[in-house]
Amino acid sequence: MIVLQNVNKTYRLKDAHVEAIKDVSLQIRDGDIFGVIGYSGAGKSSLVRCINLLEVPDSGSISVNGTDVTWSEGGKFKRLSNHEMKKVRKKIGMIFQHFNLLDRSTVFGNVAYPLAYSGLAKEEIRSRVFELLELVGLTDKAAAYPSQLSGGQKQRVAIARALANNPRVLLSDEATSALDPEATESILSLLKELNKKLNLTIILITHEMSVIKSICHKVAVMENGRVVEEGDVYTIFASPVQAITKKFIASQSSLSKIDMLASGGALIGTQGGGALVKLQFEKDAVGDALISEVSRKFGVNLNIVLANVDIIHGEPLGAIIAVIKGDVQNVAAALSYFRSKNVKVFENIIHDGGK
Ligand SMILES: Nc1ncnc2c1ncn2[C@@H]1O[C@H](COP(=O)(O)OP(=O)(O)O)[C@@H](O)[C@H]1O
Ligand SMILES: [Mg+2]
Repeated sequence: MIVLQNVNKTYRLKDAHVEAIKDVSLQIRDGDIFGVIGYSGAGKSSLVRCINLLEVPDSGSISVNGTDVTWSEGGKFKRLSNHEMKKVRKKIGMIFQHFNLLDRSTVFGNVAYPLAYSGLAKEEIRSRVFELLELVGLTDKAAAYPSQLSGGQKQRVAIARALANNPRVLLSDEATSALDPEATESILSLLKELNKKLNLTIILITHEMSVIKSICHKVAVMENGRVVEEGDVYTIFASPVQAITKKFIASQSSLSKIDMLASGGALIGTQGGGALVKLQFEKDAVGDALISEVSRKFGVNLNIVLANVDIIHGEPLGAIIAVIKGDVQNVAAALSYFRSKNVKVFENIIHDGGK
């Protein structure tokens, strides 16, 4: 378990102060894949650097697996002793956007590097390295140099290296941001597999909502140094509250195209009394046949403009954007019928920014 309480971090430069983290409190449970999403400059990297002790917060406290990694003395927060710090760090692995591999070492050498002072004998190191390479599917590349590998393979080497000392926690700072979509997918499924197999807690930093959707259990949204929204991924996708969260979700949803269509006007003109609505079908909503049932029952005409189903942790989250036409009272009755069937109805969606 990682617990952050009221953490603040300000960088003090000669001519300016940058408040990178403001009053952040989070609880990350063992075995979770915990996503942190935010735009560039939101404070995500500063946050993980505080967790693995590369930065010292100005105030607040952080504990990792029961060890308080910050301690106060006269109101000042200081580093742990070198020995204590090493002990905590050993339990935390980290991977980065640009892999940070040693270019002059082979894949074997890169993975063996963190084991150099582990007290293991040469033969034990060798077998541990091959165990790690097997875990990430790279046993045949042991003798290759980083320059001979694809981006996805480099990230696999970095993952093997990060896991060398059996950490309980893996910090992933934009680890897929430099990869193409295919490599991204394969790295994400590797992380998911490692999370399950090793019960590895993963803190996954990203600026892409699609990454969060594909493997995270929980997500925290950061903006200007603060966590502005937090929860389990399905709930956040189904009912985002903050504008920035809605924007992140829209960025990876085909339904966001409604904005473009709406401003173009031609395809979904609602002249003639129609109303543009979004119907959201969550896991407990019975979606099938509801559209035709409603249109028969209430004598309304439902013209589907866009439809989409997201699968989040194996659970469907569906949405339909439709123009509903008919007598005003019938339209209102139809919409409340949808609501009675656990369908979320959003009206005036264009004015809401299509979300
Ligand atoms: N070492 C540093 N010194 C001064 N300012 C920094 C330093 N690291 C980050 N910052 C500033 O802190 C803010 C948060 O940065 P960062 O944590 O890297 O955000 P993110 O990872 O979300 O892009 C930014 O305004 C950035 O310019
Ligand atoms: Mg960053």
